[in-house]
Amino acid sequence: MDLRSVGAVVTGGASGLGRATAEALVAAGSRVAILDRPASAGNDVAKSLGDAAIFTAADVTSADELGSALDTAVRHLGSLNVLVNCAGVGTAMKTLGRSGPAKLDAFAYVIQVNLIGTFNATRLAAPHMAKNTPNAEGERGVVINTASVAAFDGQIGQAAYSASKGGIVGMTLPVARDLAEFGIRVMTIAPGIFDTPLLGTLPEAIRASLAKQIPFPQRLGRPAEYAALALHIVQNAMLNGETIRLDGAIRMQPR
Ligand SMILES: NC(=O)c1ccc[n+]([C@@H]2O[C@H](COP(=O)([O-])OP(=O)(O)OC[C@H]3O[C@@H](n4cnc5c(N)ncnc54)[C@H](O)[C@@H]3O)[C@@H](O)[C@H]2O)c1
Repeated sequence: MDLRSVGAVVTGGASGLGRATAEALVAAGSRVAILDRPASAGNDVAKSLGDAAIFTAADVTSADELGSALDTAVRHLGSLNVLVNCAGVGTAMKTLGRSGPAKLDAFAYVIQVNLIGTFNATRLAAPHMAKNTPNAEGERGVVINTASVAAFDGQIGQAAYSASKGGIVGMTLPVARDLAEFGIRVMTIAPGIFDTPLLGTLPEAIRASLAKQIPFPQRLGRPAEYAALALHIVQNAMLNGETIRLDGAIRMQPR
């Protein structure tokens, strides 16, 4: 898919990996709607990107909010060709901790945002994409999800996060199969440890120790490297139904 003919929605686009992807898409000539929570920096980020970007506020867990944010996005973009699902939250809680069993609400919240939010955005973007005129390859749309290496090697305290990301990996192929008849591809990126505002809050010593666990290159991933892979996926019609680890060969240890 030619990036210059793309209208893209990036969930979680106000920060970190989503923001870098929105910036890279605009730099490549795409039109972008940053979809993020109302209290996020989405408005400022969209303004910094000029006329090619808008902000549409929504919580990805709400069918109503997401539905109307996508309608607004399509009105401004002209078409919705690419959805990048970057909205996500993390949590740390042991299944049985010092204060007893893990809180079920906390577990459910992470599944709700990361897994159900990703499916919610995909299912509501699909009808917009299905209306597109196919390009020469027959493509109408591309969906890119964000899992994590925690889908495969989750650490102590990551039951909820790993389950949510494992669910994203698990649904990649069936959703790609569901949407194949419409010419919509579905891919997932499983990042290792990336230098986003989330990690920026950690002390330098912890960031350095995280970086040391990465065989090569021995540094945190740059959000621009995630964005570069997302843009490649959009352009490469043969990539479909698969998860790509983007992690410098890290295999997370139990803690
Ligand atoms: N940074 C990393 O090392 C790393 C590694 C693996 C996976 N990931 C995943 O990448 C994605 C982006 O992470 P990041 O590091 O850029 O984090 P981030 O906190 O910088 O950005 C996440 C964005 O998602 C938005 N968001 C959260 N809940 C939302 C909701 N309910 N509705 C709408 N928007 C919501 C936030 O407002 C924020 O702007 C997440 O899914 C995360 O799990 C990150």
